[in-house]
Amino acid sequence: MQDIFSEKLATWREYTDSPWARIRYAVVEETIRREAETLGGPLRVLDVGGGDGVDALPLAVAGHDVTVLDQSEQWLDEARRRADILGVPLTGLNANLDDLHELGEFDLVLCHFVLQYRSSGMADLRALAGVLRMGGTISVILPNPSGMVLRQLVVDGPAAARTELAAESKRAVLFDHDARKVPMEEMEAQLSDCGLPVIRRYGTRIANDLITDNNVKHDARFFDDLLRLELDLCDREPFLRMGGLYQLIGQKTAG
Ligand SMILES: C[S@@+](CC[C@H](N)C(=O)[O-])C[C@H]1O[C@@H](n2cnc3c(N)ncnc32)[C@H](O)[C@@H]1O
Repeated sequence: MQDIFSEKLATWREYTDSPWARIRYAVVEETIRREAETLGGPLRVLDVGGGDGVDALPLAVAGHDVTVLDQSEQWLDEARRRADILGVPLTGLNANLDDLHELGEFDLVLCHFVLQYRSSGMADLRALAGVLRMGGTISVILPNPSGMVLRQLVVDGPAAARTELAAESKRAVLFDHDARKVPMEEMEAQLSDCGLPVIRRYGTRIANDLITDNNVKHDARFFDDLLRLELDLCDREPFLRMGGLYQLIGQKTAG
């Protein structure tokens, strides 16, 4: 695949500093902490398309053996730089999702915000299942098409929401690239078909995306309240299906 990511690293860093991105990373840090705790440890963790390492680093800090795999050397350099600052070991592996087969087996595999840029769907999930030990878990995060409709409604009104509802793909503005829209139920069925039935679901940016005034989110007290609410909502039905992102946890039961 053409590398649409490397040249956008600086823009991505601006995004990760924003309050709405900090909410996303804080919630996922908590959900992944819970999943790692359930598995025990220390764990062998592989973050596929792990980029600058923001999801993986807390696991390295917690003492797990963490490999961040990414096709971009620039993003991996950023992950290594962050690991050095924290004083934790982290393996950065410059490789492609297409070439996972020789990596051995991991207890926990992350693939966050990558699959929407790929055309292959099932083939990628099978490759990810191939590097997971039996009983190990996978965490997949994707943009949530249902959440996008609600976001369009509150930001631009009902006509925009109807357009969003009908659209088959989404332009990823930051990467100037089309991204597949994969409904949560569809990803859940695909994971199951690949021997990775879903055992838990989370949502992220649930309350955040319904607040149109982004300025208030820079206020520290407001941000703390918003983050607390997001943490309260992230594992609750039906809220977890309404966020900007969904996270599915699958467990390898076959293959
Ligand atoms: C949108 S970023 C997400 C980074 C991180 N997972 C997160 O959620 O913060 C997508 C990352 O996936 C990487 N990537 C995209 N396609 C890939 C592929 N085929 N093989 C390995 N890495 C890939 C990109 O280089 C980039 O670092």
